[in-house]
Amino acid sequence: MSVHSSRKRLVAGNWKLNGSLDGNSRLLQELLVRPEMQAECDVLVCVPYVYLPQAVSILKGSAIAVGAQDVSVHAKGAYTGEVSAAMLADIGCRWVIVGHSERRQYHQESSAQVAAKVLAALNAGVTPIVCVGEQLADRQAGQEVCVVQDQLEPIKALGAQIVSRLVLAYEPVWAIGTGLTASPQQAQQMHQQIRAYMESDQVRILYGGSVKADNAAELFAMPDIDGALVGGASLDAQEFLRIVAA
Ligand code: 13P
Repeated sequence: MSVHSSRKRLVAGNWKLNGSLDGNSRLLQELLVRPEMQAECDVLVCVPYVYLPQAVSILKGSAIAVGAQDVSVHAKGAYTGEVSAAMLADIGCRWVIVGHSERRQYHQESSAQVAAKVLAALNAGVTPIVCVGEQLADRQAGQEVCVVQDQLEPIKALGAQIVSRLVLAYEPVWAIGTGLTASPQQAQQMHQQIRAYMESDQVRILYGGSVKADNAAELFAMPDIDGALVGGASLDAQEFLRIVAA
């Protein structure tokens, strides 16, 4: 089923709630001086909303793209605090993470809302990176595949056309920020299940959860792992570059 080589690799940094004008500037400049940041792999950084214009400006003309970490389901109107996909596109942000487990957990985002965000993003020309992943208790109960398929169900229901335009990220919640990475075999097994469920050889599936320079290569060697969504390690330019190099 796997056609790994035809899917372009993607490494995305998710800065989460971190950054400052000064610190971002230093980090982004450090990423820019590296020539290996070219062609074979899509590279992007997903930064807090307020720093999007700064990142877009610093990375302009480079091989590194800029993404947001969330987007509104609404196009416009009386939705205080929300940011629309058209606004992201307007400032040069072409990617957005949707359905991150931290949004599902702390903001009660449902999988139906995540699907609505996928459509909102694609309608504005912004590519969504859709996160799914089970909790530790789900895995201990042997329920991880069911849980992930439930999260994917409203995305799959959008149809093959839509699925072909998005990126998926498998992030087991128990591996996020814990230093516990899924083993390459565990991750591969889930990625294979996700690909089969979504019936798509072409959709890119990233792995996320304590990805570091030291474990990236063995994860990327797996046939259904097409790259990574990197949290903590994306805040260190050298570490992030080593992951991209892997
Ligand atoms: P860590 O890489 O810090 O575990 O975070 C993973 C993640 O949540 C990326 O979206």
